[in-house]
Amino acid sequence: MRRILHIDASYSGENSASRILSQAFIIAWKKLHPEDTILYRDLGRFPVPYINETWIAAIHSPPETHTPEMVEALKMSDPLLEEFLSVDRYVLGVPMYGFTIPATLKAYIEHSIRIGRTYEVDENGVRGLVRGKKALFITSRGGNYPPGSAFGEDHQEPYLRTIFWSFGITDVQFVNANNLVLGDREQSISTARSHLQTLATQW
Ligand SMILES: Cc1cc2nc3c(=O)[nH]c(=O)nc-3n(C[C@H](O)[C@H](O)[C@H](O)COP(=O)(O)O)c2cc1C
Repeated sequence: MRRILHIDASYSGENSASRILSQAFIIAWKKLHPEDTILYRDLGRFPVPYINETWIAAIHSPPETHTPEMVEALKMSDPLLEEFLSVDRYVLGVPMYGFTIPATLKAYIEHSIRIGRTYEVDENGVRGLVRGKKALFITSRGGNYPPGSAFGEDHQEPYLRTIFWSFGITDVQFVNANNLVLGDREQSISTARSHLQTLATQW
């Protein structure tokens, strides 16, 4: 029995392509794996607070020295981290905003950038500590970003690959729904949906 963390990051509601697609994948997955547990976080509707100066001081000092403000700063952050670490797989619905991920997802990820918990650093650089997990990113984009785009405009997929790599999660898959604004939105959603149906049998 696996634990899966399903995250949506679109600020848009039911019409959001990434929400429609991530939900379609989870429904397909549940049909095939009813024994799995799905945890759900809706960061578009329920954003987490930004980390701040007190949070940074707190994670760099022993708990017994924490002020009440530091305790407060970690009160919400620590459970987010524990939840992130407790699952086997991640399914994220991620819109492209400003060529990258929505601020709400970045704010969420920052809670998990924890030395000694999600990564360590030595003379060879960063080494992820969250091993043996898989991530599926279902992205929605207004335009199209084929590999080798002239200006490397896609800062979404490379960012997500890099941050998850830094956590030690290198088994990652992307299903990108492109051209949702500039092309045929329904066609693009339908292509991504059928790709996800297949992936649900193979992931
Ligand atoms: C604030 C904002 C910024 C956006 N920036 C980009 C962008 O840089 N590149 C792009 O291809 N599409 C961009 N789009 C279009 C969205 O990626 C597209 O509408 C997508 O469907 C949004 O995901 P959702 O349907 O899951 O909400 C932007 C949309 C919004 C609202």
